Amino acid sequence: MSENNLITDNIKRILGNRKFKAYVRSFGCQLNVSDGEKIKGVLKKIGYGFTEDEREADIIILNTCAVRESAEDRVFGIIGSMKKLKEEKPSLIIGIAGCMTAQEHISEKIRKSYPQVDFVMGTSAINALPSLLLECLKGKKFSADISEYDDFSETVEQVRESSFKASVPIMFGCNNFCTYCIVPYVRGRERSRRPEDIIREVRQLVNDGYREIMLLGQNVNSYGNDLESDISFPQLLRELNKIDGDFIIRFMSSHPKDASKELIDTIFECEKVAKHLHLPLQSGSNSVLERMNRRYTAEQYLEIVDYIRNRDPDFSITTDLIVGFPNETDEEFEDTLDIIKRVKYDNIYSFIYSRRTGTKAADTEDFISESEKSQRMRKLLELQREISSEHYKRFIGRKMRVIVDGVSKKHEGYLTGKSNEFIIAEFKGDISLMGKFITIEVTDAMNWAVIGRMI
Ligand code: SAM
Ligand code: SF4
Ligand code: F3S
Repeated sequence: MSENNLITDNIKRILGNRKFKAYVRSFGCQLNVSDGEKIKGVLKKIGYGFTEDEREADIIILNTCAVRESAEDRVFGIIGSMKKLKEEKPSLIIGIAGCMTAQEHISEKIRKSYPQVDFVMGTSAINALPSLLLECLKGKKFSADISEYDDFSETVEQVRESSFKASVPIMFGCNNFCTYCIVPYVRGRERSRRPEDIIREVRQLVNDGYREIMLLGQNVNSYGNDLESDISFPQLLRELNKIDGDFIIRFMSSHPKDASKELIDTIFECEKVAKHLHLPLQSGSNSVLERMNRRYTAEQYLEIVDYIRNRDPDFSITTDLIVGFPNETDEEFEDTLDIIKRVKYDNIYSFIYSRRTGTKAADTEDFISESEKSQRMRKLLELQREISSEHYKRFIGRKMRVIVDGVSKKHEGYLTGKSNEFIIAEFKGDISLMGKFITIEVTDAMNWAVIGRMI
């Protein structure tokens, strides 16, 4: 029996027969959400049930994100508000997990200033959760495990949020050290999962009825660089494409410096791989890209876009952008707007630069005011709104196959779905269609979605 199984048995003995409930909330990117599903898997094995209401919980775990200061402030606000819950129920266990805790100064701040917290665990300490929990149950005041583990919790069964969409991390960590980004410091160096483990997991998910598989990594096109076998990301895609079944394969993110023609050719060649690339540009200015250590130029980026769009003008491209990188000039910002106009993105995710302690850019004195940054952000979003609504009109009158994935918050009686190109569609339909592929005819286009009717 493994050490963790012994610990789990020990905890079960302490908890007895009562049904204990856990509240697990993940913040940040899909990789973190996937970790949250593993945390739930560990808790389920111990015997916990789950609740969406923290007041009902016997254990609360916040799985945090450190990518921007606003994300951290939000979590500190929530931890603060949990003091009252702990006073009302002293047996409540509160644990903080994820990227914030992997920064030593943050773990220290939690330990010193938030006595309601019982333990902190880092991003790869999921296997350490049972022993941390046992220490709490035995009455230890505060425990921490933020060490890096190299196993990928392959044996941990995830408690998945959805019954038809599944995230599959294929690699962890990042080697790129973009000067603004905290991820390499909190997630460690790149570690790829073995291809056979990924293929087995995807095959199982498809057998279990999952219809949308999202492969995750901070830079999926570096997949395999650290493995002994010489498998590359395009090869992995080709292997996954061979799995029998009606399902769609998506992936993110791809770093433009490694987005090869082979990758693009592979996407076109594999019928199950979505015709969509999330290709974070960050900035359209070469001088800013250099200061960001992105290792590509605007021209090289556009070369990939042209290669894609020459083969298929409908191929969807989305991106991440940072506004107000330290000392970004008006001209540098205009360069970003120019690329947005040129590429005509299907969607953008834009962020105002946030200073992250420990990163290289954090040491740069910044002369651009916050109000100037906000103004630029508004300008950028306005431009993208105009582009998306114009761009989505290309689908009007066409048929679109979508996977039904939700209920519209804007239009009563409407469902939402995602097309192969990752475009949101809204249409009238019955909730029983959830998780199924259907075909719609697009009748209208908005700046965030298309409207259609089922055929
Ligand atoms: N690995 C992905 C890549 O290279 O594109 C990105 C992962 S990161 C978690 C997601 C996005 O957060 C980045 O693409 C970037 O736009 C944004 N981001 C990262 N650090 C940031 C910072 N310090 N301030 C603002 N946005 C940031
Ligand atoms: Fe951060 Fe850059 Fe790595 Fe993406 S590639 S996670 S932006 S350091
Ligand atoms: Fe945030 Fe960590 Fe993801 S910093 S964006 S949760 S890798």
